[in-house]
Amino acid sequence: MSRLQADHLFKVFGRRPDEAVRRLAAGETDREELRAEGTTAAVVDAGFTVEPGQIFVVMGLSGSGKSTLLRMLNGLLEPTAGRVLFDGRDLTALSPRDLRTVRSTKISMVFQHFALFPHRNVLENAAYGLEVQGVPRAERETRAAEALELCGLSGWEKSWPDELSGGMQQRVGLARALATDADLLLMDESFSALDPLIRRDMQDQLLVLQQRLKKTIVFITHDLNEAMRLGDRIAVMRDGRIVQLGTAEDILVRPADDYVASFIQDVDRSRVLTASAVMTGGATPADCPAGCGCRPVGPDTLVADLCAVAARAPHPVTVQDSDGSVLGVVPTERLLAVMGGLGARDAGDPADAKTGTETGGKAGPETGGKADSLAAAQPKKELTARA
Ligand SMILES: Nc1ncnc2c1ncn2[C@@H]1O[C@H](COP(=O)(O)OP(=O)(O)OP(=O)(O)O)[C@@H](O)[C@H]1O
Ligand SMILES: [Mg+2]
Repeated sequence: MSRLQADHLFKVFGRRPDEAVRRLAAGETDREELRAEGTTAAVVDAGFTVEPGQIFVVMGLSGSGKSTLLRMLNGLLEPTAGRVLFDGRDLTALSPRDLRTVRSTKISMVFQHFALFPHRNVLENAAYGLEVQGVPRAERETRAAEALELCGLSGWEKSWPDELSGGMQQRVGLARALATDADLLLMDESFSALDPLIRRDMQDQLLVLQQRLKKTIVFITHDLNEAMRLGDRIAVMRDGRIVQLGTAEDILVRPADDYVASFIQDVDRSRVLTASAVMTGGATPADCPAGCGCRPVGPDTLVADLCAVAARAPHPVTVQDSDGSVLGVVPTERLLAVMGGLGARDAGDPADAKTGTETGGKAGPETGGKADSLAAAQPKKELTARA
């Protein structure tokens, strides 16, 4: 069973929302026309599933409906139409009391500007969610201290929020969410206010934590690079609708439309695409001279690392599985085509379908997800949570 499932979710603000949903579903109107009537269709027919242990990223420009979608996922906003299933339970059908219980014990939110209480120290701030749940002081302080340690904040327990940098404050917010043991983390632009280096650091820390904790995370961002770095699967939103749903590779290699294609122009493909996405079918080149110094790569090798290997090999690079079986080869011209922004089809690849599909992406929980593939592709020291 999926941890989270959204079925035909709509949220319409303004006059006669039900009528607007009916007209939208019937294709009788669109968002622009409704806006002219003074009605905002914030989310239009959104549907997806999130599996346990996945990081599901919702990406889109300002106003595309991301936060509205997220607030429906934890029951803060009631959908105008559609259902949200959390572990198979219909959130939209729960009594207000049951919904409050689910929200305080099973779901945690981390916002962009995490509001820490200025008059509480770091430990008390991290323990706040447990305090709301009525957990006794000693237990909540132990659990909060553990969560702070996970987030690299050991030793800061007695400090006051204003003694912490923005990045550290954000980590206290993350620790508060983790301390509650909630299965589902909803993160709305949680790293967007941080400067680029700290932001990247937080992304790494989240991936490291995720390797250990295997939470289910819905992460909202308007930054495609962040989406690609974090997301096992990514939903791209435009004007309230999900216009593409897939892995980072799906989106880079097969953008659903011109809008998505224009979005991905600036993405560093070499750090997203892997050997499995760019290889062609075929055996190891027969003309490999003995001692040419070439070496095979694994299917999860990032294209950036593949380029370094290809630069030294006088023939296509072999991609092989951990058991040594050959999966395909990557000719240099193909690497260049991919780096130059050509999709698999443009580059004339018969093995076009090597990337995951909407339901069968490589980065599902069964294969360890994004954290594992990132860990495999990057030096370990970069990924060690700071103590
Ligand atoms: N309570 C509300 N009442 C009326 N309109 C709303 C309300 N909340 C959101 N909207 C509208 O719904 C649309 C989507 O807003 P939402 O906040 O979900 O976008 P977003 O993708 O999160 O944007 P941002 O990246 O700026 O946070 C916007 O047009 C917004 O003005
Ligand atoms: Mg928002």
